[in-house]
Amino acid sequence: MRKIFTGKNLLVRTILTSFTIFMFLTACNKSQQETVISEKYKIQEHYEPIIDSLIARMTLDEKVGMLHGTGMFVSGGVERLGIPEFHYTDGPNGVREELERHSWNPLGLGNDSATFFPTGSALGATWNTELAYRYGEGLGLETRARGKDMILGPAVNIMRTPIGGRTFEYFTEDPLLNSRITVAYVKGVQNQDVAVCVKHFAANNQEFERMSVSIEMDERTLQEIYLPAYKASVLEANALGMMGAYNQFRGEYLCQHDYLNNQILKGEWGFKGMIVSDWGATHNTVTAALGGLDVEMGTDTHQQNYDLNFMGHPLRDSVLAGSIPMEVIDDKVRRILRVTYNLNKMEEGREEGEFVSDKIKQIARDVAAESIVLLKNDQKLLPLDADKLKSMAVIGLNATQSQAKGGFTAGVKPKYEISPLQGLQNKVGDQITIHYAKGYVQRFEQEHNWRTPAINTPDSALLAEAVEAARNAEVAIIFAGNTREIETETIDRASLDLPFGQDELIRAVTAVNPNTIVVIIAGAPVNLNTARETASAIVYGWFNGSEGGNAMADVLFGDVNPSGKLPFTIPVQLSDVGVHALDAYPGKDLIMEYKEGILVGYRWFDTKKIEPAYPFGFGMSYSDFNISKVKTNKSTYRKDEQVQISITIENTGNFDGKEVIQCYVNDEDSSVLRPEKELKTFAKVFLKAGEKKTVSLNLDVEDLAFFDENSKQWVLEPGFFKLMLGNSSRNIYNEKKIEIIN
Ligand code: BGC
Repeated sequence: MRKIFTGKNLLVRTILTSFTIFMFLTACNKSQQETVISEKYKIQEHYEPIIDSLIARMTLDEKVGMLHGTGMFVSGGVERLGIPEFHYTDGPNGVREELERHSWNPLGLGNDSATFFPTGSALGATWNTELAYRYGEGLGLETRARGKDMILGPAVNIMRTPIGGRTFEYFTEDPLLNSRITVAYVKGVQNQDVAVCVKHFAANNQEFERMSVSIEMDERTLQEIYLPAYKASVLEANALGMMGAYNQFRGEYLCQHDYLNNQILKGEWGFKGMIVSDWGATHNTVTAALGGLDVEMGTDTHQQNYDLNFMGHPLRDSVLAGSIPMEVIDDKVRRILRVTYNLNKMEEGREEGEFVSDKIKQIARDVAAESIVLLKNDQKLLPLDADKLKSMAVIGLNATQSQAKGGFTAGVKPKYEISPLQGLQNKVGDQITIHYAKGYVQRFEQEHNWRTPAINTPDSALLAEAVEAARNAEVAIIFAGNTREIETETIDRASLDLPFGQDELIRAVTAVNPNTIVVIIAGAPVNLNTARETASAIVYGWFNGSEGGNAMADVLFGDVNPSGKLPFTIPVQLSDVGVHALDAYPGKDLIMEYKEGILVGYRWFDTKKIEPAYPFGFGMSYSDFNISKVKTNKSTYRKDEQVQISITIENTGNFDGKEVIQCYVNDEDSSVLRPEKELKTFAKVFLKAGEKKTVSLNLDVEDLAFFDENSKQWVLEPGFFKLMLGNSSRNIYNEKKIEIIN
C-alpha cells in the first residue's frame, strides 16, 4: 500500500516536491551540462545521534554481524534492536531477478521480471543529463518496488580499451561526460530512497586477469581520467554506496586500499556512505578493515556459515586481539546505519515503488530513442517514408533476438523486450511488406562456450537467402553487431571485428541493394570499415532495453530525429588506440601499466593526429544546425571566475531536433603535456524546425587546471587557452581564445 502523508509529513513532502520541480524548471533554462536536477537528496544530520546511541547498545558480535553478507545479496541486521537486514540487487541497467539466498541460481519467480533499461554506453550516447536522471529514477522506483535498499550501479569505469568486456556497462571514454551522466543517474536513484553503489572503485578497466592484475599509473592520470566520476558522485550527488573493484592498484587490492578508500574517498572527498566489496573481492581481515572496506560481500564460500568470512569471526577476533580498534568497527556500522536511515527504512515514509509502470516504460523508450546514433546517411536514405515504401528486407539475428540477458551480472530478466523487427512491425503494420532473413548463424569455435572466438565463416544458405530478400526489396536493413555473450563481464573481446561473417553478409547485401542500412546492435565500438565502404546508412543501436525496437523504428521512420552522439571513438583498427599502439594491454606478469597516461580515447587520437573511423561526440541528425555568434563574456579571466559562452544556434532543416554543443579546450601555454582537446562542457538543445536560440554554457575557470605530478595538486597556469566549439571532437565550428591571469 502506498503511504498517505498527513500533517507535518505532508507539508514537508509538498515543500520538497515543489522545490524539486522549481529546481528542475529553473535548471532547464540553464545549459544542460550544469543542470542541477534535484536537490532533494541530502544526508540528514539529525539521524547521527540516534545512530550513535544504537551503536552504543550493540555488542561486538552484533556489530560484526552487519559487516558481511549473510546471503548472496543481503548483509546482516540486528533483530534485537530492530535493525533490518540490508538488501542489494544488480544493477546497473535493470533490477536483477530474485536469486536463491545462498547461490547464483534464479528462484524462477513469476513476478520479478523487470524493465530492461538501455545499457551504459547507450545512456552515455544520449549526452542528456535529464534523461540520465529519469533513468536513475526509473531504476530507483523498480529497486524499491522489489524491496531492495541498494542497486549495484552505476558502473562508471572509463572505457580504456574498446575491447574491454564491460564496455557496454560503462558510459564513456571521457571523464567529464562520465561525471555528468553519473551525477544525474545517482540523484535519480537516490531520490527514490534507494542507495546507489557506484562501481567499480577504481581503475578496473579490463576483464583480463581482473581478479589479480595490478594497475600502475601515474597520479595525474588517476586524478584526471579515472577518478572524476566517482568524485562527482560523492561531492555533487551524495552517493551512499561505493563498490571496491576486484583488481589491485599499485600492488594492493582495491577493497583494502588505504590510499584510495581512506585517504581519498572517505578523507578528501568526505564520503559518508558505505564501501561494499565486489562479490568475492575481499582478501584479508585486518588489511581490509583498516583499508576502508565496510561490508564484505560475495559468494557463499563457507556452506552458509558467513561468520567464517574475512569480515566475520576473524574480524571479531582481530578486534579482541587488539589489531583493529573498536572505533574502526563503529565507523563501519555507523555508515551502514546512516545509509539505512537516510533511505527512510527506519521510519514511516518509504513508499512502495513502481514496477514496469507506464512511466518507467516511457523512460526506457525516451532513453533508447535519444541514444541512437546516426553515423552515415548517404543520399538522405533515412528517414524512411512509410507512405512511399512498399517492401523492406530485415536481415540479421540481432533484429529478433533478446539482448536483456547475458553479460553476467548485468543481465536482466525482462518483463518484455521489443526487438527491432517487432518495433518495425509495430510501426508499419501491413503497410509495408517486411521480408525477414536471419543472414547469419551464431557459432563459436567450441559449441556452447562463448569464451572461444566466434566462427566468422558465413553460412552460405542463410547468406543466399538474405541476398535474395535484399534483391527483392526497396530497402534492406541489416541488424549486425555483437551479442551479450561476446560483450560480457569476465572476458574481454578478442578483436573489434564483427562476428559470424557479418562483414561478408554486409558486402553481399549491399552489392544487390544500394539502399542498405546497417544497424549495429552492440555496446562497444566495432570495426565498421566494411559498412562504411559499402552501406548507404549506418546507425548505432546499442543493447537498447525493453523499448529498444520501438525506439529504433521511431528513428528509422523519422518520428524521432536522431540526436545520439558517440560516447567513444570508433577506431579504424585496434592498433590506432593508444593503449594498443603502446602495447599497454593486457599487461605482463599480472602488472598492467597504463603507459598512455592521460591520452585515453579521443585525447590520444587528436593529440597523435590519427584519423578515427568515427570520432568521439559524433552523430548526425535529420536536420541541419547552423551556429553563429559565438561569444564569451570576457577575454581575460581570473581563477575563481566563470567563462560564460553564448552561442546562437538555428535549426535550418525540416525536422524538429536536438543538437549537442560541445566545448573542448586546449591549453596553449602549458608547461606539461596537455591533450589536443579535452571536453569541458556541453549542452543538449532542442529546436523546432526553423527555430533559432541563444544558448549559454558556463565553464568554471578552475576546471581548466591539470593535476601536477610533482606538487600533487591541481594547478592552473596563467596563459592562453583555446575554446573549441563543435558538434563532435573532430567537427569544430568555432574557436575562441581566452587568457587566464593570476
Ligand atoms: C560484478 C559486480 C556485480 C557483482 C554482484 C560481480 O561479479 O563485478 O559488478 O555487482 O558481481 O553480482
